[in-house]
Amino acid sequence: VKAAVFASGSGSNFEAIMKAGELPCEITLLVCDKPGAGAVERAKRLGVPVLELSPKQFKDKAAYEQALVKRLREEGIEWIFLAGYMRLIGPDLLGAYENRILNIHPSLLPDFPGADGIGDAFRAGVNKTGVTIHYVDAGMDTGPIIKQREVDILPNDTIDTLAERIHKVEHELYPEVIREVLTHK
Ligand code: GRF
Repeated sequence: VKAAVFASGSGSNFEAIMKAGELPCEITLLVCDKPGAGAVERAKRLGVPVLELSPKQFKDKAAYEQALVKRLREEGIEWIFLAGYMRLIGPDLLGAYENRILNIHPSLLPDFPGADGIGDAFRAGVNKTGVTIHYVDAGMDTGPIIKQREVDILPNDTIDTLAERIHKVEHELYPEVIREVLTHK
């Protein structure tokens, strides 16, 4: 089974998935919508083919996603793992990969959805946050939750120390959930 990881940023979750071992799928493509993103460097280092597609090159989101779906189908991709892909998934991609798109988010959803889940939880002054893996729907971080893991916010945490612990949990949880979900399908 072939899968693609979608990333817009540094790609540390992509790398963690690549290095996890014993996955029931092979990551045969990194899709990146941000030219020059760190994830692309990692893919090159890890020997994973990259599809860099900038949405700006297309007349609208539908055209972008249709081009994406065409390429994914040509590559035989069956699953999509979003890992810091900073874009809502539209009907074209959702329709082509129904219940086959997962996302990771650095908070205990439904709390603190959006682009800065870590910072928003930190500033809210809660003493506990975490990581969520969920199926993707049309909303922002709203699809059915698959698994969550809590991370305590400690009295002398800064955003940076908290982020570091959250990322560590992310890097364990994503491969774990990929194993579980794909094994039971
Ligand atoms: C992660 O915190 C992920 O939960 C969020 O975006 C961040 C991506 O980090 N959706 P990286 O690019 O995997 O390092």
